[in-house]
Amino acid sequence: MSEGLITVAYLAATILFILSLGGLSHPETSRRGNLYGVIGMAVAIVATLLGPQISGAGFAWIIVTMLIGGSIGLYAARKVQMTQMPELVALMHSLVGLAAVFVGLASYIDPEVRYTGAEKIFHEFEVYIGILIGTVTFSGSVIAFGKLSGKIGGRPMLLPARHWINLAGLIAVIVLGRIFLDAGSVGSGMAPLLLMVAIALAFGVHMVMAIGGADMPVVVSMLNSYSGWAASATGFMLSNNLLIVTGALVGSSGAILSYIMCEAMNRNFISVIAGGFGTEGGKPAAAGGAQPAGEVVAVSAAETAELMREARSIVIVPGYGMAVAQAQHTVYEITRLLRERGSDVRFAIHPVAGRMPGHMNVLLAEAKVPYDIVMEMDEINEDFPETDLAMVIGANDIVNPAAQDDPNSPIAGMPVLEVWKARTSIVMKRSMASGYAGVDNPLFYKDNNRMLFGDAKKMLDEVLAVMKSAA
Ligand code: TAP
Repeated sequence: MSEGLITVAYLAATILFILSLGGLSHPETSRRGNLYGVIGMAVAIVATLLGPQISGAGFAWIIVTMLIGGSIGLYAARKVQMTQMPELVALMHSLVGLAAVFVGLASYIDPEVRYTGAEKIFHEFEVYIGILIGTVTFSGSVIAFGKLSGKIGGRPMLLPARHWINLAGLIAVIVLGRIFLDAGSVGSGMAPLLLMVAIALAFGVHMVMAIGGADMPVVVSMLNSYSGWAASATGFMLSNNLLIVTGALVGSSGAILSYIMCEAMNRNFISVIAGGFGTEGGKPAAAGGAQPAGEVVAVSAAETAELMREARSIVIVPGYGMAVAQAQHTVYEITRLLRERGSDVRFAIHPVAGRMPGHMNVLLAEAKVPYDIVMEMDEINEDFPETDLAMVIGANDIVNPAAQDDPNSPIAGMPVLEVWKARTSIVMKRSMASGYAGVDNPLFYKDNNRMLFGDAKKMLDEVLAVMKSAA
């Protein structure tokens, strides 16, 4: 394939990636957006394979590794539960980081890459920065994977003088960079490079370990952004324009998402990165269940069905528990029945509900809930005082009034769905355990709140059965 044709193919792929991002910004166009992304990636891979940089044995190696990598990816994607998706994404980010590290090292020791003068300095600078970002992305994402999958506790690990440790690391990385660039040969440059890798590994671990449970949404999108910049740096090392542009697209969209997440949680980006949110004043994360701080009123599935049938206006608030229980289809069955009876049923989506951006939207779209009854937090929050029943399904932190009432709460200032303002609220969950942020929820003890204890799918099936028999 000629250079010109490859440039055209890369341009087409870039446009498809931009269209893909545009499509993914709305549930109705997201499938199309996904398709554009797939086609763009296929075009990019084929054009690169047919390009002048790959020939003979290299081609065979790439096909074999693609088959192995593709099979692992296919297996993982088919096997993963929807609730494990955030962990899988974190793991994928770590691989992007690792790839940038390997490409950087290979590019540095490659005897065929011969630059002199300013070009050499530029190339080695790209290598150093690429490996730095890649390493931080790798170790940070591995820890994020551990935290999201519950293998590592959500509580922030705060070392004494942690900001000083980070600062010392930064200074060391700059000094080592200087030594690396000054090194005359690959042999003498390797030591500062590997030392930097060790520091960057520790920094990535430290950075994510220091972040409290409630701030994880920001971290997830921030690592997404880092993985883009790592890919972009790889593009510079390999002089591949498409990789530079694609990486920059991922990097900047991840940065925008991080900003949106910060807005949604009323948090300052710098203080999130500095870490420690969710430490002061808050109760420790409940292992198996927080100590009850008051009386709660439990209801049965039959009573819940009755309350739902009586209510003219209902707002359903889905959370992580609905995803775990895979209750979205039953939720929609119930919604349909209620709407047929003339009730006004809507869904309220908190920007950080679940464990990944758009988590609830994906589940509701899968259950074919019409988009026009799915509302964003800002669109629906002021309607709660006129709502007969707020039905909270497996959500906790996102409906916690302590965010507004208790300035000492670890989630103080985070915008929440004001379900307690509805005439009645029902919280459906298995126990009194706290949510991801590990904070007790005063909503449970409010006079107008009822608790329906049990697995969301099981309880909703019971509610549905009662409704059907009463119809
Ligand atoms: P959480 O606050 O984590 O609460 C979910 C609740 O669901 C838990 O309290 C749990 O209580 C219940 N639950 C679990 N399995 C259940 C089941 N099978 N049936 C019924 N209930 C079940 O979730 P949320 O309200 O959606 O808030 C999201 C939290 O995750 C926030 O703190 C957010 O910061 C964090 N987070 C979000 C993201 C993104 S990007 N969205 C990423 C990382 C972290 P029981 O154990 O008593 O059942």
